[in-house]
Amino acid sequence: LAQDAAAGEVVFRQCRACHQVGPTARNLVGPVLNGLFGRKAGTVEGYSYSAANKNSGLVWDEAVFRDYIRDPRGTIPGTKMIYAGLKDEQRIRDLIAFLKQFDGT
Ligand code: HEM
Repeated sequence: LAQDAAAGEVVFRQCRACHQVGPTARNLVGPVLNGLFGRKAGTVEGYSYSAANKNSGLVWDEAVFRDYIRDPRGTIPGTKMIYAGLKDEQRIRDLIAFLKQFDGT
């Protein structure tokens, strides 16, 4: 199935209440999501994570991200991210394509 970054931008609207991406992104309720894929969980400079997220030992590859966004509390028990989860596989793929645009930011 194709990934559609433009469709992913629409999916990301539900994340924007708490997260920013792009060159001017700042930490808000949640950390900046630039450069997500390949980085260790809990490592954005200047953001105050829960111990659960900080010490999860996870690395944000696509498979881990998919599990997490489907079920945040199931993947990181004790996370302070209040988000029920996104179950639709196509929307998850599109969201990944959108976020990958900010991997070099
Ligand atoms: C953490 C993605 C929606 C609040 C995270 C992390 C990711 C993520 C990947 C871990 C970052 C890291 O380890 O550096 C997303 C995506 C969302 C979404 C893609 C939409 C589909 C939300 C919403 C909220 C939120 C709606 C607020 C209501 C947080 C908070 C954390 C976090 C507070 C830090 C968790 C902790 O330290 O335990 N998010 N998020 N997120 N997110 Fe979200």
